[in-house]
Amino acid sequence: MASITIRNLDDEVKELLRRLAAENNRSMEEQARVMIRAAVDGQIGPGRIDQIEKTLRELTSSPSAATPVAALAGKIVPRGTLSGKRILLIIGGGIAAYKALDLIRRLRERGAAVRVVMTAAAQEFVTTLSVGALSADHVFTELFDRNDEHDVGHIRLSREADLLVVAPATADLMAKLANGHANDLASTVLLATDKPVLMAPAMNPKMWSHLATRRNRATLGKDGVTFVGPARGEMAESNEAGEGRMAEPLEIVAAVEALLYAGPKPLTGRKIIVTSGPTHEPIDPVRYIANRSSGKQGHAIAAALARLGADVRLVSGPVSIADPAGVKTIHVERAQEMRDAVERLLPADAAVFVAAVADWRSENSAGEKIKKVAGEGPPVLRMVENPDILAGVGHHSQRPGLVVGFAAETQDLLRNAQAKLAKKGADLIVANDVSHESGIGPSGVMGGDRNRVRIVSKAGVEEWPEMTKDEVAARLAALIAERLKAIVV
Ligand SMILES: Cc1cc2nc3c(=O)[nH]c(=O)nc-3n(C[C@H](O)[C@H](O)[C@H](O)COP(=O)(O)O)c2cc1C
Repeated sequence: MASITIRNLDDEVKELLRRLAAENNRSMEEQARVMIRAAVDGQIGPGRIDQIEKTLRELTSSPSAATPVAALAGKIVPRGTLSGKRILLIIGGGIAAYKALDLIRRLRERGAAVRVVMTAAAQEFVTTLSVGALSADHVFTELFDRNDEHDVGHIRLSREADLLVVAPATADLMAKLANGHANDLASTVLLATDKPVLMAPAMNPKMWSHLATRRNRATLGKDGVTFVGPARGEMAESNEAGEGRMAEPLEIVAAVEALLYAGPKPLTGRKIIVTSGPTHEPIDPVRYIANRSSGKQGHAIAAALARLGADVRLVSGPVSIADPAGVKTIHVERAQEMRDAVERLLPADAAVFVAAVADWRSENSAGEKIKKVAGEGPPVLRMVENPDILAGVGHHSQRPGLVVGFAAETQDLLRNAQAKLAKKGADLIVANDVSHESGIGPSGVMGGDRNRVRIVSKAGVEEWPEMTKDEVAARLAALIAERLKAIVV
């Protein structure tokens, strides 16, 4: 590939490149290559610097109806937004403490300074040596420390941070803060702080569902503590599954970014419904029909809208990722439950239907597990159509001012998306290709972390370059904010 001369680009373009490159841990040249490769889909030949620059300009030029993406480029929340922020991370004593090491790295890579307090129990799981090496700072462990307490170090620690993050938040730390205990450095710092607190609980599902923990969770929520997770899934320590797994480091980072985000909040006062994840349509009590949706894109969109100030109601099918911080999440299983939940949430200013809702369900789900009976052959499932949630809301008497649908297609992507736009009464369709070449598996659209979408509206089709699902979410949120500006409540 030809070399790219970054200094030939104008300042505006360079600034965008610099931000995106930092965000993706790439050199500016590599970032430019990736953007161009994605934007022109391999149609560019070596040495076509003029076309490269043109593409970059298109990605950064001023807003126009045909290229709203350009309007958004300056407004997305870049991954480097934590620069200059000071985070006090409190590591509690749970198996998930090992994930705190990655969390430190992820926070620092985004420019945050991370100081760490470890409980005595946390030190049974990870060492102060690893934590100190990763945070590049002294690790604080003792309340009665002659070196730190000459100037009341625990107060200083709690005040010098912009945000306190507890990860993993043990049942014990939650109980202590909910009840005002201050009998070690971690709990004393938490009680002494005047800064926001974010907790990422991690514990055995039985501990999480215990009435005492639920009470403490509710108290802390009322006291203004923000939570991220826990998620459902396999527990590391016990081969048990259920709710209690700590949110992944990147989910915690997203919650931190949301809390510390100080940019404009154009969606303040707007209520937005988002659906996400798959649906599970039961065949019998143990079997169901599902699809490969992970919920990553829908959850990221909910988080991005909340970051811009919206009051977001997320209706999520069964997923193994954490509820986004600051978003009211309603959990459902079946398409009919999702439809009911969405309709109960109306009226709203906008609705974004990202969930991969099953088109059909088994007409009669059996009350008991269907048994294999010798000589009878396999059961025949009669399928019936599920409600079309997007079309239902698109034509509803309380239709939100802006209705956005997603179209995951394996063939005829644009034709199908355009047909969907008209038929469903949507304003925008976000079309993504989930064909075998690009769509399925850990690196594909369904289940993976990246996405390449086209925005289909009456005005035409706009192609967005391949980017992370968080970036797609940020741009879509900005586009929704832009569209809603024109809709007065
Ligand atoms: C192997 C092991 C794993 C544990 N994992 C957790 C956990 O994931 N979450 C939790 O709340 N407590 C867990 N505990 C219990 C806590 O370590 C214990 O409640 C401790 O007092 C917590 O102290 P801290 O809150 O000061 O960190 C675990 C204990 C052991 C021995």
